[in-house]
Amino acid sequence: MTSDTRRILVTSALPYANGPIHIGHLVEYIQTDIWVRFQKMQGHQCFYVCADDAHGTPIMLKAHAHNITPEQLITQIAQEHIADFAAFYIEFDQYHSTHSSENQYYATLIYERNRQAGHITERTITQAYDPVKNMFLPDRYIKGDCPICGASEQYGDNCEACGASYSPSELKNPRSAVSGAIPEYRNSEHLFFKLQDFEAILRTWTNSGTLQPEVINKLEEWFKVGLQEWDISRDAPYFGFEIPKYPGKYFYVWLDAPIGYMASFQALCNRNPELKFADFWGPEASSELYNFIGKDIMYFHTLFWPAMLHGAGFRTPTAVFCHGFLTVNGLKMSKSKGTFIKAATYLKYLQSEALRYYFAAKLSSSVEDIDLNLEDFVAKFNSDLVGKLVNIASRCAGFITKCFAGRLAPTLSEPDLYNQFIAASPAIAEYYERREYSKVVKEVMALADIANQYINNAKPWEIAKQDGQELQLQEICTTGLNLFRVLIGYLRPVLPAIAAKSEVIY
Ligand code: MSP
Ligand code: ZN
Repeated sequence: MTSDTRRILVTSALPYANGPIHIGHLVEYIQTDIWVRFQKMQGHQCFYVCADDAHGTPIMLKAHAHNITPEQLITQIAQEHIADFAAFYIEFDQYHSTHSSENQYYATLIYERNRQAGHITERTITQAYDPVKNMFLPDRYIKGDCPICGASEQYGDNCEACGASYSPSELKNPRSAVSGAIPEYRNSEHLFFKLQDFEAILRTWTNSGTLQPEVINKLEEWFKVGLQEWDISRDAPYFGFEIPKYPGKYFYVWLDAPIGYMASFQALCNRNPELKFADFWGPEASSELYNFIGKDIMYFHTLFWPAMLHGAGFRTPTAVFCHGFLTVNGLKMSKSKGTFIKAATYLKYLQSEALRYYFAAKLSSSVEDIDLNLEDFVAKFNSDLVGKLVNIASRCAGFITKCFAGRLAPTLSEPDLYNQFIAASPAIAEYYERREYSKVVKEVMALADIANQYINNAKPWEIAKQDGQELQLQEICTTGLNLFRVLIGYLRPVLPAIAAKSEVIY
């Protein structure tokens, strides 16, 4: 490692272990994977860790419904997730689970330390209870008629028909979504994390200069409303970690979920003894830590998560990088409209790198949503990748193989053109660093146009017919191939398999 080698730990949000990976998720994992591959290519020490988010009520209930244990369910789903990620060339250094001994250790430690520091408090709350299933009901497991418009079968705290929001206790004819029973209201002692203790440190963190403007604005809004205590406990039955000294009480899934980033990194350290956990998570760690997330989970990652870490004497993230949501043909992904596309379904019909390329062409550092337009998607892949980029190589490689036994010329016909392509490197690196992938793609495609133009003008197919022009032909094709080599190198973080294949074939 040289003195300017950065040490970087990168995470993506942990997918829930109750369903398959879909193309919306893939926006995030592809965005992160491109960034990590770029950092590794720059020679930095960069680790990419993730895990399945395995706890909580939905996972417990889904397992019950399938007559299997939650452990069986999460084992099966983890295998599917890992296979889907691999097919999209998402390369984790460690893929772990929040249902692991490492995670139990850190979740308990972070809770205990915050408790000792006085950041945990207890209070009795009243909550809906299902007397048939014998469990407390989260809001979204209560359904009934909307108190405003009367629409039936509305869940939890807002109406899909009229858009009203209300508290679940206001629903008319309330029923448990689990058993159909009429919910009762019961008291229970809960533990709360005193988020408001951390306002000053969170404000400092907000102004650290590394967060996106949209994220800073959101945080300012939340500060204005005032930070609230956060309920971190749930009653049995619950699939999670039991809270020490509180039998029958479990950590709420969102407490141990982000701690899963630490658990996954610990698992990586366990396999690589030269890696030190404290170098990445200690309060004085000089390494960088980035959490890539979607905009729906910003509150957890920009308030609870840094607060919890700080309260327990760990470092806070260098930045949380937030992206927007994927829409398909301009609409929210929907099962009924057939636009809810699972990763595995996509793979039956299409190449995974086409999606990586398309997302890269759309992604920027902003929190705006991105749209997958299915027509545009096919057109882009065909015209950009096949028509422009790979075409440069195909137009030149044939001559080199046929006429020169695969040997390149010792010199280029247009060294200035080649130098122009090389000169784009710092700008492209800067775009990757800033997550402005759409600018990378634009720049590379502009250069691809220039390369194709060069071949159009040089007309190797005509030169090939003339006698005594062998060296010229070889130089032209060598130039074309070298331009291609530079461009596919620039796109290597986006198209790792195509890039690797190009090295072998051309
Ligand atoms: N389990 C939590 C995250 C815990 S992180 C400590 C969760 N899981 S999720 O499976 O619902 O989502 C995982 C990631 O995918 C989130 O960052 C989420 O924003 C992102 N996306 C899920 N659907 C998405 C789209 N339609 N579009 C873009 N990103 C999407 O949240
Ligand atoms: Zn309504």
